[in-house]
Amino acid sequence: MAKILVIDDEDTIRRTVAASLEAAKYQIFKAADVKKGLKILDNETIDLVLSDLRLPDGSGIDLLRAAKAKEYPCEVIIMTGYATLDTAIQAMQEGASDYVTKPFNIGELSVRIERALQQKQLRRKVRRLERELHERFHPDNIISNSANMQKVLEQVKNIAPTDSSVLITGESGTGKELIANAIHLLSKRSEHPFIAVNCGALPESLLESELFGHVRGAFTGATNTRAGLIESSDGGTLLLDEIGDASIPVQTKLLRVLENGTIRRVGDTQERKINIRLLAATNKELTREITAGRFRQDFYYRINVIPIHLAPLRERLEDIPLLAKFFLKRHAARISKQIEEIDSAVIEKLMQYSWPGNIRELENLIEYAVAMADSEMIRIKNLPFTFSQESPVQNKSRADLLQQEILPIAEIEKRHILLVLEKVNWNQRKACDLLQISKVTLYRRLKEYGISPPGGNAPGGKKRSQALKGQNTKFK
Ligand SMILES: Nc1ncnc2c1ncn2[C@@H]1O[C@H](COP(=O)(O)OP(=O)(O)OP(=O)(O)O)[C@@H](O)[C@H]1O
Ligand SMILES: [Mg+2]
Repeated sequence: MAKILVIDDEDTIRRTVAASLEAAKYQIFKAADVKKGLKILDNETIDLVLSDLRLPDGSGIDLLRAAKAKEYPCEVIIMTGYATLDTAIQAMQEGASDYVTKPFNIGELSVRIERALQQKQLRRKVRRLERELHERFHPDNIISNSANMQKVLEQVKNIAPTDSSVLITGESGTGKELIANAIHLLSKRSEHPFIAVNCGALPESLLESELFGHVRGAFTGATNTRAGLIESSDGGTLLLDEIGDASIPVQTKLLRVLENGTIRRVGDTQERKINIRLLAATNKELTREITAGRFRQDFYYRINVIPIHLAPLRERLEDIPLLAKFFLKRHAARISKQIEEIDSAVIEKLMQYSWPGNIRELENLIEYAVAMADSEMIRIKNLPFTFSQESPVQNKSRADLLQQEILPIAEIEKRHILLVLEKVNWNQRKACDLLQISKVTLYRRLKEYGISPPGGNAPGGKKRSQALKGQNTKFK
């Protein structure tokens, strides 16, 4: 129920307005002057103030200013019997949501109140999203313990304010999109849109109309004229993600955009001026793509004005402890779990691994461990099976294998079954197919070895979190 504070020195107005609003299911507070009004604002989380302009100890605008100065999250509607345009304009300029002139009818007032309350909700939502975005992509929240990453961040801060094109390279999951976002946030374009297009995700014909837009009738199915993503990012930043996957014709068209600063919608004759900063990202070696004839050299030079390379995680192991703690904090907060620490044995394990999926893989792993943890500390047993084992079966030489502890066959079978189950997100049918055994046999082994899915849920896969949310493969 929204809380409304009605401030008016006239007792009858206070009472009639309050009574009709109460009937409309708002919770009403009343005050006769600025001082009493502010006192209520101090003690209650008021959603909306409905204040008279002229009050015995000041004006509605004084109250509005005080409320803004104290950052109270309330909207203010000013009521005035002397509706000069000046006072109305002043009230709005000082941040009032609206104003009404006396005498007003309650119907009109209710409409304005509802509109102001909706505005408040929208404002709150925008603020939350902005905060989240800022928190996630601000360079202060990009973990960089390694000299390597610190150099990248330094570079980001230096080049962000320029308008030069940047080519961000690095393996999958190394943080290319994160860096692109940070460049945008630190640039003078940050108030304008940041749009990322994944060039690898769409077939050529669709990508073209997504990027450039089209006019009605340009092709079958083009029933409406539509602006493309390049136009939508006008004034802001456009990230062409997976640029190595864009076809030669699309590269040619993009090159023209960069050289002329204009675009043409598919099927249109008109050229439109646009102003974008271009960022591109890829995990491909573009020089090799050029040699193979899949990438235009002139386009490459045009996008590769400033190159930023993100090293794979295995080459900056010193970032792992910080990253792990950072992700622990993020995911524990997200599911409201009180987990503060990571066992040093866990960190040691993480440092030994090669991280083919880089930081994304590390984040997914921590998210999984947070979901599994049953104390204030992440321990080895909370990690997926492949990690929680004594000796990960990785790149072992024959000499290593001969040195290895000899395990009973049953133990090897148990570990193998667990490994396979994890690989297939605990999907019994797939596990049976891979192991080439029947469901009955699998069931018998699971019972024998005391294996059950962690938490009754299905972990595993590239995005363990999705598996955790999406499936619930319990063994019966
Ligand atoms: N240095 C870092 N500090 C904090 N979080 C990071 C860092 N680097 C990457 N991340 C996080 O890791 C995840 C993967 O990063 P991102 O999506 O930017 O990678 P990418 O290189 O674009 O991967 P892909 O090539 O697969 O698209 C994101 O959730 C991102 O926020
Ligand atoms: Mg990416």
